[in-house]
Amino acid sequence: MNKSSLIKELFSNIKTTGAVTFSSRYLVNKMLSFANFKGAKVIVELGGGDGSITRGIIERMDEDATLFVFEISEAFCKNLRRQFPQKNVNIICDSAGNMDEYLHGTGADLILSSLPFSLIPKEARMEIYKKSRSNLKESGYFIQICYSYLLKFQFANYFQCIQTAFTLRNFPPAFIMICN
Ligand SMILES: C[S@@+](CC[C@H](N)C(=O)[O-])C[C@H]1O[C@@H](n2cnc3c(N)ncnc32)[C@H](O)[C@@H]1O
Repeated sequence: MNKSSLIKELFSNIKTTGAVTFSSRYLVNKMLSFANFKGAKVIVELGGGDGSITRGIIERMDEDATLFVFEISEAFCKNLRRQFPQKNVNIICDSAGNMDEYLHGTGADLILSSLPFSLIPKEARMEIYKKSRSNLKESGYFIQICYSYLLKFQFANYFQCIQTAFTLRNFPPAFIMICN
C-alpha cells in the first residue's frame, strides 16, 4: 500500500480510525522516549494503522522480544504483515478488546496505544482499558497518544499514576499519557 492508499483507508473508515492523518515521526519518537525497551520481552501495540509506531517499536526492541500488534482494518493488517515479516512480530487482525485471547496470560511489559478512545463506544472502550490493565505486568507501562486531555480521567480509573506530555509537532497537536 502506498501513502495515498493508506490515507484513503484512514479517511474512508474515519469512525474507527479517528484520525485524518498518521502520527508524525516527532510524535512517535516522543511517545517511545517514555518507554523502557531494555529488558521488555512482551510488547503490545494497539491500533497499528500504517505502522509508523510499529516501526519505531521494532527499531528499539530487544532482539528476543515479541511484539503483538492489534489492528481491526484488514487492509492495514495486510500492509503491516508485508512491512514487518519478522517472526517475533505478530500482526493480529482483531480488536484490542480481545488481547487476552492472544497473550494467554503472559504479562506485557509495555502497551503502546494510538486507539481513538473518544470514538470507541463506552462498553468496548472500558473492556480495552480493563484488558490493558489486567494484561500489563505490575511494573509495566501503558502509553497512549490522544487528542483529548479528558481521557486522563478515564485512565485514572485503571492506573494509579499518570504522567502527561504534549506536543504541537503533530496534526492535530497531541497528548501522550504515560500510565502505570
Ligand atoms: C488514530 S489511528 C493510529 C494509526 C497509527 N498507529 C498512527 O499512530 O498513526 C488508530 C488505529 O486504530 C485502529 N483501531 C480502531 N479501533 C480498534 C480496536 N478496537 N482494536 C484494534 N485497532 C483498532 C484503527 O483501524 C486505526 O488504524
